[in-house]
Amino acid sequence: MFDLDKSKFGPWAIVTGASSGIGKEFARQIAASGINVVLVARRLPLLEAWGQELAQRYGVQYRAVQADLSQPDFMQVLKPVTQALEIGLLVSNAGTGIPGEFLSIPEEMLLQIVQLNAMSHMRLVHHYGRQLVQRGRGGIVLVSAMGAMDGIPYMANDAASKAYVTSLGQGLHQEFGKAGIHTTVLMPGPTETPIIEKFGLNNMPLPIKPMPVEQCVAEGLAALNANRAMFLTGRIYRLMSKVIPKAITRKMNSRMLAQGLINGQPRLAHMTK
Ligand SMILES: NC(=O)c1ccc[n+]([C@@H]2O[C@H](COP(=O)([O-])OP(=O)(O)OC[C@H]3O[C@@H](n4cnc5c(N)ncnc54)[C@H](OP(=O)(O)O)[C@@H]3O)[C@@H](O)[C@H]2O)c1
Repeated sequence: MFDLDKSKFGPWAIVTGASSGIGKEFARQIAASGINVVLVARRLPLLEAWGQELAQRYGVQYRAVQADLSQPDFMQVLKPVTQALEIGLLVSNAGTGIPGEFLSIPEEMLLQIVQLNAMSHMRLVHHYGRQLVQRGRGGIVLVSAMGAMDGIPYMANDAASKAYVTSLGQGLHQEFGKAGIHTTVLMPGPTETPIIEKFGLNNMPLPIKPMPVEQCVAEGLAALNANRAMFLTGRIYRLMSKVIPKAITRKMNSRMLAQGLINGQPRLAHMTK
């Protein structure tokens, strides 16, 4: 667990995708540092239950906000809830993918992914980044994915949408840095969250066991604290990304993801929660 400085990154943090996996754990470690949390996702009952538990365990306040970040107007729901709160940290984490043959995925679904994985980060950062810069201290974590810049077969659109975030965050790292804001792009390697099962990877012979979510988040918060522009979680993944040629990685991913698909068809169930 990483202990954040609440005078810098508090008194309130926003975490998107806080109902599950990496976002849920971000909310826990941030709350454990004594920072109040705004929890955002579509499944409100999960956010409420998690907020109550965090309040009880760590003595913080919380707000639970139901919002679909794949919809272009979601900021209209979030802005009024956060208007009176002093935000010191934004963790823009919500995201997903649709493993499948690109041509078999309806265009509407591809667009939804781009809205969620790329545009929602831009909208959140444009609004809360302004507040942070005016305040002159605080942080932003943008959650991307390992391999986003190199192309992932059978997740081509998902990886491309993550490449947008990776570039956006690194550019803003420099721009916002002048105002005293830490901006870090977090590139998780495979991490133990429900997404592994949603993508059909739970029964796959993964080359390396996915890392615990606690470790992924603790490394992410340490990278934010150190003001790293970009950080890939897991020592073994950092090593792999340096030594294995991209073409080999693409071949490995292609074989693995193709195996997880049923006749190349996309896994769509999680798009509707
Ligand atoms: N786990 C990994 O191995 C891994 C690797 C690389 C990158 N990542 C990235 O890490 C981030 C978190 O993933 P995870 O592994 O924690 O997956 P997860 O357990 O499936 O969590 C995804 C979170 O995003 C939220 N979300 C999904 N669609 C949404 C929408 N339309 N509107 C609002 N919220 C939405 C979900 O909440 P609701 O369903 O309640 O809306 C959930 O809280 C994602 O951006 C993912 O791409 C994960």
